[in-house]
Amino acid sequence: MRSGLRIVFVMDPVDTVIVDEDTTFALMLEAQNRGHRADFCTYRNVGLKDGRPFASVRRATLQRDPDAPVVLADPETVDLAEVDAVFIRKDPPFDADYLWLTLILERLRGATLVLNDPRGLRDANEKLYACHFPALMPPTLVSADATAIKAFMEEVGGKAVIKPVDGHGGAGIFALVEGDKNVNAAIETVTAEGRRVAMVQAYLPEVALGDKRILLMAGAPLGAILRVPRGDDLRSNIHVGGTVEATALDAADQRIIEAVAPRLGADGLHFVGLDVIGGRLTEVNVTSPTGIQQMSRLGGSNCEARVIEWIETRESVNP
Ligand SMILES: Nc1ncnc2c1ncn2[C@@H]1O[C@H](COP(=O)(O)OP(=O)(O)O)[C@@H](O)[C@H]1O
Ligand SMILES: [Mg+2]
Repeated sequence: MRSGLRIVFVMDPVDTVIVDEDTTFALMLEAQNRGHRADFCTYRNVGLKDGRPFASVRRATLQRDPDAPVVLADPETVDLAEVDAVFIRKDPPFDADYLWLTLILERLRGATLVLNDPRGLRDANEKLYACHFPALMPPTLVSADATAIKAFMEEVGGKAVIKPVDGHGGAGIFALVEGDKNVNAAIETVTAEGRRVAMVQAYLPEVALGDKRILLMAGAPLGAILRVPRGDDLRSNIHVGGTVEATALDAADQRIIEAVAPRLGADGLHFVGLDVIGGRLTEVNVTSPTGIQQMSRLGGSNCEARVIEWIETRESVNP
């Protein structure tokens, strides 16, 4: 068990932190409570000097004070090969900036634990990763072609969901209902008029009961919460007004976890959020999964502690 660690969190600016909701804040606070040092930086503060990753970081002091949850010390430059762990917590989308961040942190391979593994992040797309497990998913088509999308919609009974493959927080997701005069426009919008692929899924009516978020640490479940959509929306995301309820893991969830865990481990995707609707896997969140505070509160156990504990016990770095 390693103590007194220095953990660098590469994240979004701290002015967006919501004290009782933010997962990154909770992880940093837990690190601090366990006697570790939590450093803050954004992707813009990370660079390479003669091939060595460095960052301009600011030591963070965390407190459950909505007015000043994260107090930052003056910037200092740190050689990232000298810290104990780098935790990538930048929110999606996975864009060019995100790609370059992973390519810079790639240089820490063999030197510093980086989670999630930069190569794993590059390889995974949060929507497409689920397609490694077609048997666990609802019927799904990935295509930019409107004719194919409409044929698929018919094939699955006339009701589907279309989502941008690089979307997050429910943004840009539409229900496609046969006969609805908005279908063509929705397909054009999400596929950028046929220039980019979209994910189209059979509509799962169980979504009305909620979208289950299961957080995994090293393939083991930390717990689960249910995000229930507002009556007037398809989307369950907290960001668009979904409410959070307690829930438990059922047999279907266990089957999904067992099936995905080995692959996640091989890809270095340690801290991951699975989205499960009606016992079907719909999304594998790997960039900056959220929900840990709600999970700890509703489940009555400290999920953050298990994440930091894992970093403490992890002796080896990314292979
Ligand atoms: N196949 C589906 N059937 C019904 N609702 C869905 C389906 N896929 C997604 N949704 C709804 O859209 C929301 C967001 O979908 P998701 O795939 O998790 O993308 P993201 O959370 O990245 O925006 C879900 O929480 C759910 O409410
Ligand atoms: Mg989701």
